[in-house]
Amino acid sequence: MYRIAPSILSADFARLGDEVKSVVAAGADVIHFDVMDNHYVPNLTIGPQVCAALRPHTTAPIDVHLMVKPVDRIVPDFAKAGATSISFHPEASEHIDRTIQLIHASGCKAGLVFNPATPLDYLDFVLDKLDIVLIMSVNPGFGGQSFIPMALEKIRRVRERIDRSGRDIRLEVDGGVKADNIGAIAAAGADTFVAGSAIFGAKDYAAEIAAMRAAVAASR
Ligand code: DX5
Ligand code: ZN
Repeated sequence: MYRIAPSILSADFARLGDEVKSVVAAGADVIHFDVMDNHYVPNLTIGPQVCAALRPHTTAPIDVHLMVKPVDRIVPDFAKAGATSISFHPEASEHIDRTIQLIHASGCKAGLVFNPATPLDYLDFVLDKLDIVLIMSVNPGFGGQSFIPMALEKIRRVRERIDRSGRDIRLEVDGGVKADNIGAIAAAGADTFVAGSAIFGAKDYAAEIAAMRAAVAASR
């Protein structure tokens, strides 16, 4: 039930296909794919063409995290490029409910992403339509930042909402996740863990992922 999702933001971009294969062979469950537009966030990364290029290299789900504004125009492109899920920030969409519908109509799972200061109220009328709630534990835009502890309280509150809904919704956390804090994050209620610098910065991807799984198991 727990999933480790390495963020390829911290991978070697000159060897992206090999990096994806290595990290999946090392035990990753999901590939987290960070899309930044130098507009919604102050950084620029990769788009649908790179997603399409990676798709044949792995059968692992590709978890697209859109940090772009506007959102809707690019959604079908990522669906065609082989994205499994597409998550977006409510501040970046003019019509949140419509964007969720568009993602589903494109054949992907839909996620809503909460920045550290974004209130959870956005969930009030859409939680039952979501497949993923993604809690940012850093401000989006860069890998290698420190985990913001307030995210733990937010994760607990989302866990309650998901449990009350009775629906199968993933609770994902993104930013500053490492082997030494992943246990507390799991105990707060997260089930999907994005980690960029912790995994791709490690010499041995398998050992790092195993250390994370062990810490999650110990927290139960
Ligand atoms: C930040 C991205 C994250 C980032 C995580 O905007 O959404 O996915 O890559 O990197 P680390 O794990 O290094 O904080
Ligand atoms: Zn991300």
